[in-house]
Amino acid sequence: MNVSFLLNGETVDVDTHPTQTLLDWLREQRHLTGTKEGCNEGDCGACSVMVTDQNGARTLNACILFMPQLQGKAVRTVEGLAAPDGNLHPVQQAMIDNHASQCGFCTPGFVMSMATGHLNGRTDHDDILAGNLCRCTGYAPIIRAAKASEGAPVPDHMRDTPLHLDAKAQIPAPETSDALAEWYIAHPNGTLIAGATDVGLWVTKHFTDLTDVAFLNRCTDLQQIDDQGDTLRIGAAATMTDVLAAMRDLHPSYAEMIRRYGSEQVRNAATIGGNIANGSPIGDNPPALIALGATLHLRQGDTRRDMPIEDFFIAYGKQDRQSGEFVEAVTIPKSAPALRCYKLSKRFDQDISAVCGCFNVTVEDTKITAARIAFGGMAGTPMRAALLEAALVGRPWAFDTLQAAAAKLTEDFHPMSDMRASAAYRMEAAQGQLLRYFDDINGNETNVLEVRA
Ligand SMILES: Cc1cc2nc3c(=O)[nH]c(=O)nc-3n(C[C@H](O)[C@H](O)[C@H](O)COP(=O)(O)OP(=O)(O)OC[C@H]3O[C@@H](n4cnc5c(N)ncnc54)[C@H](O)[C@@H]3O)c2cc1C
Ligand code: FES
Ligand code: FES
Repeated sequence: MNVSFLLNGETVDVDTHPTQTLLDWLREQRHLTGTKEGCNEGDCGACSVMVTDQNGARTLNACILFMPQLQGKAVRTVEGLAAPDGNLHPVQQAMIDNHASQCGFCTPGFVMSMATGHLNGRTDHDDILAGNLCRCTGYAPIIRAAKASEGAPVPDHMRDTPLHLDAKAQIPAPETSDALAEWYIAHPNGTLIAGATDVGLWVTKHFTDLTDVAFLNRCTDLQQIDDQGDTLRIGAAATMTDVLAAMRDLHPSYAEMIRRYGSEQVRNAATIGGNIANGSPIGDNPPALIALGATLHLRQGDTRRDMPIEDFFIAYGKQDRQSGEFVEAVTIPKSAPALRCYKLSKRFDQDISAVCGCFNVTVEDTKITAARIAFGGMAGTPMRAALLEAALVGRPWAFDTLQAAAAKLTEDFHPMSDMRASAAYRMEAAQGQLLRYFDDINGNETNVLEVRA
């Protein structure tokens, strides 16, 4: 497969295997060893690069980025950060001035994240750098360096323009959902690759050899987020970065949860469709989407079907998806003022949920008239708490009601113990989240990061 893209300002044409990673190619074929391999699974950011396409510049983890995903884009690595005359980029200079590097292994990844944030005029450094790990310097000098470079002008060479490729140069990848539907019918055993934040690990950790693949990142119609009046239709290939932006005003609690989904680099790649389709019991979107009453849109060839999203998750590892059928979109209501999403994980950033509880309870005249409550991490699938919901509806909105109903969670769920949490801890945490919801809705501060003495 031939792929063309810009690498540090120079056009490259590469004959590549569909699942060769950018990291391997940079280091092994181009000997650009500034981009480091740490974890090789998207967790540490040592391999961060800047990728520019028609949507702008974003950081991505090169270790789980397949070469065909770069077609027509512009890649900038740490070797292309200093100006052609050798002048350091302002973030590089600031790292030196602030003594922000010791062993230096993490530094190329940090400066790529910082330079992309700098290019985009961002100053939310904690979020930008949450996907970059440093073992020895400590984060304070790095954040000081990021702040120090805020006002510096963006060097001209950083403004990459994606390639304009003629039709002949296109890789054989579907460019529309129609073409994808046709491909999948013809290749029912093929693998769809969206952001590759799951599939990338099949390759780098399990050494799976995937050849019959279709990349979704060229299907621009699957990336749209459409305002439909009372509802929002989110295309399956919308990235979590784009979903986060769309949720900020509509569903701030859901947005706040997405802010803790992976890291900047992971959210820039991961798609909402991939997160639903993989059916993971600990995926963060499904409980929120279930609590919102989302409708899932599936497509197989020209046939489409819709379902309440909770019906998609049948059992652990089993979803209601036919051969050659893919997730096309999900539709959510735009208004749900009582929605709250609580992600509990060992680390604030870049960690998978132990328990993710999402609550959406309707109260009219002090009485609970409807409840949609869903959890991740409590069963083999993301699941509604049906008995808890039934115990709430018709009762007064009061702390005692919720406290009494919390016992129903022990009938709804029989969670497992694993490295993230014990079954008992999960149950206690889920019950705690229900009580937290009462305080949260009543305007009491419940976020430990915001509680002030
Ligand atoms: C470092 C790291 C941190 C992470 N943190 C989180 C986290 O905090 N919360 C969380 O929920 N997840 C997390 N994940 C998991 C991962 O990001 C998500 O599951 C992600 O949303 C998958 O989306 P993707 O586009 O990358 O999917 P891919 O890896 O491309 O695909 C995943 C699966 O879905 C299939 N697929 C993709 N798109 C479709 C479609 N439209 N229709 C049908 N099938 C499709 C693929 O064939 C594959 O089986 C993390 C992953 C990494 C590597
Ligand atoms: S090597 Fe750790 S994120 Fe890529
Ligand atoms: S400087 Fe050593 S890991 Fe960051």
